[in-house]
Amino acid sequence: MKPINLTDYEILARARLDPGVYGYVAGGAGDEVTLRENQAAFQRLRLLPRVLVDVSGVDRSTTVLGTRIALPVLLAPTAFQSLVHPEGELAVARASAAAGTVMVVSTMSGYRMEEIAAAATGPKWFQLYCYRDRAVTQAFVERAEVAGYSAVCLTVDLPRVGRRERDLRNEFNLPPTVMPRNFAGLIDLSGLTDGAAAAAFAEYIHKLVDPSLTWTAVDWLRSKTALPILLKGILTAADARLAVERGVNGLIVSNHGARQLDTVPATIDVLAEIVDVVAGRAEVLLDGGVRRGTDVIKALAHGARAVLIGRPYLYGLAVDGEAGVRRVLELLAEETDLALALLGCPGVRDVGREHVRR
Ligand SMILES: Cc1cc2nc3c(=O)[nH]c(=O)nc-3n(C[C@H](O)[C@H](O)[C@H](O)COP(=O)(O)O)c2cc1C
Repeated sequence: MKPINLTDYEILARARLDPGVYGYVAGGAGDEVTLRENQAAFQRLRLLPRVLVDVSGVDRSTTVLGTRIALPVLLAPTAFQSLVHPEGELAVARASAAAGTVMVVSTMSGYRMEEIAAAATGPKWFQLYCYRDRAVTQAFVERAEVAGYSAVCLTVDLPRVGRRERDLRNEFNLPPTVMPRNFAGLIDLSGLTDGAAAAAFAEYIHKLVDPSLTWTAVDWLRSKTALPILLKGILTAADARLAVERGVNGLIVSNHGARQLDTVPATIDVLAEIVDVVAGRAEVLLDGGVRRGTDVIKALAHGARAVLIGRPYLYGLAVDGEAGVRRVLELLAEETDLALALLGCPGVRDVGREHVRR
């Protein structure tokens, strides 16, 4: 089968991947209510096109935190990309640069952040967890700055790891070849791959990540870096307000791809109220369930600056390495172009709330 959309890539990746690895990527928390809802909520929205608009030159480019991107789609941080392809993050970095977008590199990458930065010259942001050991956290920020990352994205929805039952059933654990190499030399990694299964993996992450984190951590991070700061994992207007009061530069409306607390709402369903509270004081991005150009448009219509995708590019990577990730981004770009034209919007700024109906 020649994949012609993102779902095709998932079908092909599923056939190719070890079932445990596929479960780790595809799965969500608990009963996966939110996992289904992330996509279903996009599908429930209806688009309202305007006609007889000159769309001979559709422009899907935009900027995020001042960086120009060729399409309003970034690559969300996902851990251990070398699980699905040996070139892992290096291939993704090259594909991201070729597509002209931003790659957000996970702290839990299979390659070191410096190797990923060197793999391609495209713009990159560094995703950070706040560790119990603040010296390690600070060292990561400093390394990211030196390596040329242009923003820090602090993930705030993981005080503990969600209950991912596919991983429990599959007794999924990292193979010995896959490690969070950023930690090498800083933290003893031996507990990660010594045969214990998913519960132990969650326990291991629990040992690293600081569950006592509060809003003062944002001030602490601000005092340690001049890079723009985004908070990833905001789902309520109340938290969005606190975030902009702390002076963050961006928010990512995210439920961690439905991998943390099950039965939280779909991200697209809370986007508009968050955009309203933020009122232009920070850029608002969204991830979770974006699979079509029309999903991208629906997020923009609700006021997102851009969206991020997670699983779809991992499926592209699993199927065809760098070329697969490129193709996934190309397909989304083509679909976004077509949706803009058919909606009567020559550019991304022309998309507004009047173009969607609940
Ligand atoms: C396999 C996998 C690993 C992930 N690892 C991380 C991570 O290390 N840090 C993080 O902030 N988010 C992580 N996420 C969440 C993604 O950044 C993103 O929020 C989510 O994948 C978006 O939903 P989507 O997969 O439906 O596009 C991960 C998601 C997946 C699927």
